[in-house]
Amino acid sequence: MATAIDAAQVTYQAPDLEVMERFLTAFGMTKAEGSDENALYMRGNGTQHHIHATHKADTARFVGASIEVATRADLDELAAMDGSSSVVESTEPGGGYEVEMHMPDGFRIKAIWGRAAVEPLDTRAPIAFNDIRDKRRVNGNVRVAAGPCPVHRLGHFVLHVSDHDASMAWLRERFNFLDSDYFLPPGQDGPVVGTFVRLDLGETLVDHHFMLVLQSERVGVHHSSFEVTDVDGVMSSHDFLLEQGYHLDVGVGRHVLGSQIFDYWKDPFGFRIEHYTDGDTVDASYQPTKFNGTASETTQWGNRPPLEFFD
Ligand SMILES: [Fe+2]
Repeated sequence: MATAIDAAQVTYQAPDLEVMERFLTAFGMTKAEGSDENALYMRGNGTQHHIHATHKADTARFVGASIEVATRADLDELAAMDGSSSVVESTEPGGGYEVEMHMPDGFRIKAIWGRAAVEPLDTRAPIAFNDIRDKRRVNGNVRVAAGPCPVHRLGHFVLHVSDHDASMAWLRERFNFLDSDYFLPPGQDGPVVGTFVRLDLGETLVDHHFMLVLQSERVGVHHSSFEVTDVDGVMSSHDFLLEQGYHLDVGVGRHVLGSQIFDYWKDPFGFRIEHYTDGDTVDASYQPTKFNGTASETTQWGNRPPLEFFD
């Protein structure tokens, strides 16, 4: 099994790259080196070369995701499995090597290794928060104007699949995933219809989820999710995207599973995309729980998703 160490990118197709670029720039990403009239690569303010790719095509479609693995040997191991490509040099900007695979519903998953890192962008530091116990902001203040908040990284993505168990088996065979929490139908003790998975990096802290795999009658991506600087980033960006006339989906609120403060938008092609901050971080010892709620009950406070959110 390969050791995944980070989410590298999500990949889409869309008919108009300029429209996508305008939205993703307002959303807080920056155009990356290597973009041209056929492909748009957008980066965050971290060291990853890019985190969101869109290829020009007549129809808008989610293609898949790329996952960064720890070593070249991880690629060799994946390449030896049924249905995998051999290890090839990546043709994407940033270079490196990759293995292409397809999940049971056809989502393309690429394992990548050796992609060049880039210099982080100079963006504002997180704002220290004062609570009743810790007053971290001393002789300072908060001044945040409405505007794009820098997206730091791709945190997770969520897939609707036709056979939850088959997709999970496929993933578990290939990557160091651990179950973080389970979705069960409301009021029932089973079956598991959704699994939140995280990376197993031992004692190293990781996000509560790297992926969520959900049983559904409608196969496709549910959303991709990007971590932003802090809660002021989420809120000030919320105001800015509304001012720009973009389509708010659900937000702002705080999730139950993973605890993130979230804000969901629709990109110009109808794909749901999330800003989040303050998610749970866990290590390999965290034990999964079972959640028997409706989509609305996945939110603790704020704007609740409608009942059909996960349909
Ligand atoms: Fe999310």
